Amino acid sequence: MSAFTSVGDLKLSSKDFDRFRKLAYDYCGLAIDTGKESLVASRLTKIMRSLNITSFSDYYDYVVRDSSSDALVAMIDGLTTNYTNFFREPKHFEFLTATIFPALASRSEFTLWSAACSSGEEPYSLAFAAQEFYGNGGPRVSLLATDISTKVLARAQDGTYNEKCFTQVPTEMLRKYLQRGIGPASGNYRVKQFIRETITFRRLNLIKPFENFVGSYPLILCRNAMIYFDIPTQQDLVDRFHERLEPGGYLFVGHAESLNNLKHKFEYVQPAVYKKAGSLKKR
Ligand SMILES: C[S@@+](CC[C@H](N)C(=O)[O-])C[C@H]1O[C@@H](n2cnc3c(N)ncnc32)[C@H](O)[C@@H]1O
Repeated sequence: MSAFTSVGDLKLSSKDFDRFRKLAYDYCGLAIDTGKESLVASRLTKIMRSLNITSFSDYYDYVVRDSSSDALVAMIDGLTTNYTNFFREPKHFEFLTATIFPALASRSEFTLWSAACSSGEEPYSLAFAAQEFYGNGGPRVSLLATDISTKVLARAQDGTYNEKCFTQVPTEMLRKYLQRGIGPASGNYRVKQFIRETITFRRLNLIKPFENFVGSYPLILCRNAMIYFDIPTQQDLVDRFHERLEPGGYLFVGHAESLNNLKHKFEYVQPAVYKKAGSLKKR
């Protein structure tokens, strides 16, 4: 293979490729395999054009010199996908309403953790599902929603989405939980405040020890994020999730992911659903 990967006039040397992938791995566990040079080059080129930077080594220097880490976060955003959707992977929501919500029904309150929440569709779907299940008389349900990317978190916090995002959301739910935009906002919907205020959005890097605001939960969702991590990083993360689950609590991973290659203490329940030993306390 050539020592350079070209995108237009820009050439990514194998040395630059190695430097970028080390940066991504050290910062957020992103494992980029050899063979992904073209992908990395084309994604970074998009960012570089917007910054008028004309060489990969200048861009590398720009990223590492930025003490705010914003440039690094933008680089990671460019290299990963933030794709998500309302009620993505519906089997998880079926399991939630058939098994987890009934088990927690006698509590006065509980919190669920969406650990790679992207632009918010996942935690909002959980909040809608809880409201549908319990109505106004059940437990007070809150959510912690975290992601490494400040860009997606800002979108999540605002809670405004184009109408095309709601194909999986029944019309009745749209009416109850979303406010239709008018005038310049027409074509968009914003999640109503009484739902938005049940969710705390925080920036959190999953490969670092969990920060103090992370507690213990009956359900943690980490869907479609571990796929970017290598096995040692996944192993460490799954062990830490195990510690942060209540006895009998559940871990949801993406349906394209599994814990098969890891040593873990979870019981397998069904594809992409794992359980910590014990039973959830009624409280
Ligand atoms: C493909 S999205 C998945 C969103 C949602 N969980 C779903 O399944 O629809 C993956 C998310 O993981 C986040 N992510 C990647 N590495 C991360 C890390 N080290 N710590 C926290 N979040 C990370 C990305 O920023 C991205 O928003």
